Amino acid sequence: MKMQAVRYHGPKRPFVLEQVPLPGPGPGEVRVRIEAAGICRTELHFESGLLNLGVAPITMGHEIAGTIDAVGTGVEGRREGDRVIVYYYAGCGECTWCERGEENLCDALRAEYGFINDGGYAEAIVVPERNAVPLPPDLPFEQAAPIGCGVTTAIHAANLARVSPGEVAVIYGVGSVGFGLIQVARLRGARVIAIGRSPAKLAKARELGAEEVVDAAATGDVAAAVRDLTGGRGADVVFELVATRETMLPASRMLAKRGRLVFIGYSEDRFEVHPIDLVIREAVVTASVGNTLAELHEAVKMVSDGQVKTVVDRTLPLERWSEGLDAVRRNQAVGRVVLLPRR
Ligand SMILES: NC(=O)c1ccc[n+]([C@@H]2O[C@H](COP(=O)([O-])OP(=O)(O)OC[C@H]3O[C@@H](n4cnc5c(N)ncnc54)[C@H](OP(=O)(O)O)[C@@H]3O)[C@@H](O)[C@H]2O)c1
Ligand SMILES: [Zn+2]
Ligand SMILES: [Zn+2]
Repeated sequence: MKMQAVRYHGPKRPFVLEQVPLPGPGPGEVRVRIEAAGICRTELHFESGLLNLGVAPITMGHEIAGTIDAVGTGVEGRREGDRVIVYYYAGCGECTWCERGEENLCDALRAEYGFINDGGYAEAIVVPERNAVPLPPDLPFEQAAPIGCGVTTAIHAANLARVSPGEVAVIYGVGSVGFGLIQVARLRGARVIAIGRSPAKLAKARELGAEEVVDAAATGDVAAAVRDLTGGRGADVVFELVATRETMLPASRMLAKRGRLVFIGYSEDRFEVHPIDLVIREAVVTASVGNTLAELHEAVKMVSDGQVKTVVDRTLPLERWSEGLDAVRRNQAVGRVVLLPRR
């Protein structure tokens, strides 16, 4: 049996839609019929060669939701017909990171779906039982898929940055992860300032809870704008979701004393800062990658409870993946473009 999949063939090579064998579950594994798979900007970093993990060919896609249609021997907690979302890391279970539940930093990953193993731009995927996290019955798959990276990345970064009540949190770059962060930071009691360039995304940022928005396209000095909005104090936390030359310097200059700059996004550009800008404010530069399994469970609950909304720009059948990738490349999507492999 064969299935369709959108495959990565190495850095600077275009993805290809091709036929691959339909995988079957081994012991302790389940097969998920994929109903929806979100396109993350990270896919563009694979395509450009910026992110090169050295494994090709693989199927792209790490925001994966669907229905279990086959279970391997020894599977006890999942059944055929269960609606699930995939946790994209499978840690070794033995290193110090895994022992602490921080599989995203595992020293010897067994799998990372859509990064070094086949991911979700396909009709099906096989994962260990524990990586198939249950979804509630009333959550549409296309709304659920962006939880897998968009919402979980936001929760992980907010946890690492210890966003606290009364703090000012700047969300620099209001794409899919940014929309998640606006809501998560608000729930932590922060005052949120969102920075973007598209009026439609800034309007959505306000709708999701940003108290102030800064239109970077119409503002000469973005750091000064944030200082003005905070009575000169600056931001306690800045989440960097763009990380280009244009954004990194203002991001570091808008920090308050003891402010934390958290890199989530990255580009071809390097981060250059004069240490004195950090020293005089005891500022902290840090970063966030992926999420833990517990954070995915928390993310599913937050979306199910209506505390956090995912934002879907459009859905497309799998065959039209390149149109979706193009919309992300051109910054035309307000929220996620979600592929529907069953349509
Ligand atoms: N560390 C992790 O675990 C992790 C997880 C997921 C994603 N990522 C990375 O995080 C970044 C964001 O991901 P995403 O999927 O949310 O991307 P996205 O949806 O494309 O969002 C980024 C947004 O930044 C805005 N932007 C671009 N240049 C800007 C500028 N100069 N000033 C202000 N805004 C600007 C763009 O919209 P407008 O220009 O139209 O405003 C775009 O919507 C990517 O680099 C991705 O690879 C990292
Ligand atoms: Zn992602
Ligand atoms: Zn490990």
